[in-house]
Amino acid sequence: MLVLGLETSCDETAASVVERCDHTGRLTERSSVVATQEAIHAPWGGVVPEAASRAHAERWLPVARLALERAGVSLRDVSGVAVAAQPGLIGSLLVGVSAGKALAWALGLPFVGVDHVVAHLVAAAIDGDPIPLPAIGLVASGGHTSLLRLGADGGLTLIGHTVDDAAGEAFDKAAAILGLPHPGGPNLEVAARGGDASALRFTTPHIQDGLGFSFSGYKTALLYAVRGAPARQDDRGRIQPAAPPPLTDARRADLAASFQHAIVHALARGLRKAVEADLAAGEPAKAIVVGGGVCANAQLRARIEALGAERGVPVRLPDPRHCTDNASMIAAAGAERLARGECDGFELGARSISSLARGYRGRPAPARPTP
Ligand code: KG4
Ligand code: ZN
Repeated sequence: MLVLGLETSCDETAASVVERCDHTGRLTERSSVVATQEAIHAPWGGVVPEAASRAHAERWLPVARLALERAGVSLRDVSGVAVAAQPGLIGSLLVGVSAGKALAWALGLPFVGVDHVVAHLVAAAIDGDPIPLPAIGLVASGGHTSLLRLGADGGLTLIGHTVDDAAGEAFDKAAAILGLPHPGGPNLEVAARGGDASALRFTTPHIQDGLGFSFSGYKTALLYAVRGAPARQDDRGRIQPAAPPPLTDARRADLAASFQHAIVHALARGLRKAVEADLAAGEPAKAIVVGGGVCANAQLRARIEALGAERGVPVRLPDPRHCTDNASMIAAAGAERLARGECDGFELGARSISSLARGYRGRPAPARPTP
């Protein structure tokens, strides 16, 4: 089965063709085209939603044409159209959802909306064997940081998430504090090379719920290290903390390395706790699956590989280009839904929040079928 996928949830206009083998369930990427909007948003230091939707509207058709051409197929060869329908910027999502509906309607093909967060996990199965279940999943992107349990029946349960910033958002804000350009995460990773990761010690936040994350404190600690902590009042008057050292290239590298180390440590700790909880519950995970832009980070990848080796659990890391937003993960997740006999009607809309998060109140939500 060949599926055309469209991704327009944020600032990448992407289209892919993915093939799913009916016998083995193997997902093979036939083509992937990503038109990044980095140059459009860089002057603003972040994504401008209105500019993002306009760019998607201009680009989706040439991008989809190129994806079909590179796959060596025509629209007549495709068995279904998959689009990212949630979560994301509504105006951006609507471009892909409407485009996908138009194609599916004109060609009489099944149309399937995909949850972008779920797709980030399915990315780990592209060009590899299907993921053994049950598994523990981590999605760390610019908008989400979620721990998920993938049940033996394929159902997904959200078991923890960030209570404030997402890990990628924290990277982006830290990069801005350090004077590094957008996109922050990859630039911070480069700036951290050669830096001393022990230069700045961060306090690990205590999360009441056990499996959650909190990243906003790391960002504030970094801000104080760069600009100085605010003056405090005590019984004897105002206390002015010592001025911070100047932000030389060497200090920037040290701070970037320390920040990266802290975020990687927090993510790995969350994964470890989730794996240990499943082991204690007598349902050991058969795999650790990760996805999302932050999982392109080499230190995080090495740390998760080490965790898997230590626990004897195979780790499924997507290729770095399948970590950041792409349409192959959308086509792959759509192909999985189509293979289960599912598809959506043309009344499907776009939603800003992941279906996994709806109804989640800080405790594991009941398992539900994969959206
Ligand atoms: O998954 P993604 O492409 O988009 C969302 O769904 O949000 O993730 C983008 C996020 C950005 O915050 C970006 O800074 C971060 O992933 N990111 C990284 C790296 N590459 C992308 N963070 C740390 N290290 C990287 N190498
Ligand atoms: Zn994403």
